[in-house]
Amino acid sequence: MTEQSRRGGTRRGRRAPGDIQIVDSRIERYLEELLPSTEPVLLEMEAMARAEGFPIVGPLVGRLLRQLALTVSARDIFEMGSGFGYSTYFLAQAVGDGGRVVHTERSPERSLQARQLLERAGLASRVIFEVGDALQILISYPSPFDLIFIDVDKEAYPEALELARARVRPGGYIVTDNVLWHGRVLDQNSDDPATRGVQAYLRAALTAPDLLTSVLPLRDGVALHLKLSESRRRR
Ligand SMILES: C[S@@+](CC[C@H](N)C(=O)[O-])C[C@H]1O[C@@H](n2cnc3c(N)ncnc32)[C@H](O)[C@@H]1O
Repeated sequence: MTEQSRRGGTRRGRRAPGDIQIVDSRIERYLEELLPSTEPVLLEMEAMARAEGFPIVGPLVGRLLRQLALTVSARDIFEMGSGFGYSTYFLAQAVGDGGRVVHTERSPERSLQARQLLERAGLASRVIFEVGDALQILISYPSPFDLIFIDVDKEAYPEALELARARVRPGGYIVTDNVLWHGRVLDQNSDDPATRGVQAYLRAALTAPDLLTSVLPLRDGVALHLKLSESRRRR
């Protein structure tokens, strides 16, 4: 195993030729070593992600999710594209007892893995596990939510944003992973549906009057969208 794969290079998923690493790997390593995961189930999930080449948000983005959820005192969170529950772990920590995170995953096997892992972490009682298309499940849920996290297939990002905008409360956050998409967003002529999805997503988010958006060049790019109340909108 190389040093890169041992410490989590596979978190980023498959790289294509010409892809850019948004954050220098030495800086990521430095930060991850300053703040290593210590909880046994988190460590197990990180090892699973490395072994399977499964893309998880990783500890730095996980910590950011937990921090934002705590900042808005989130009790009700909807997660779109939850895999085996790594990002869910941080969100479930933040909502506390009596809070709820809706975990959505189209793969029944991944959903079951998430349930088993989060049970072992003592967090499953805060999580509702839904199997199917995250966008359709979101439509069927009563809203608003305090925070909605988007990590589905990138082609679906523009539609996911539209749905989430209408279902997050004013003062709450939409958070979206992979918005710099390994640097592929730089190719304005791309015909790759995933790349075009991420590009359209960011354009829509940055011009949405009800969202105040920042993009953090952390890992593969994380977008933070604060949902503005009517009185806080400038146009
Ligand atoms: C990049 S992985 C991230 C998992 C998780 N957010 C994490 O960081 O641990 C995305 C997951 O979302 C699932 N997924 C993608 N599009 C989806 C959709 N439209 N509805 C439900 N699940 C979806 C995939 O099967 C995959 O397990």
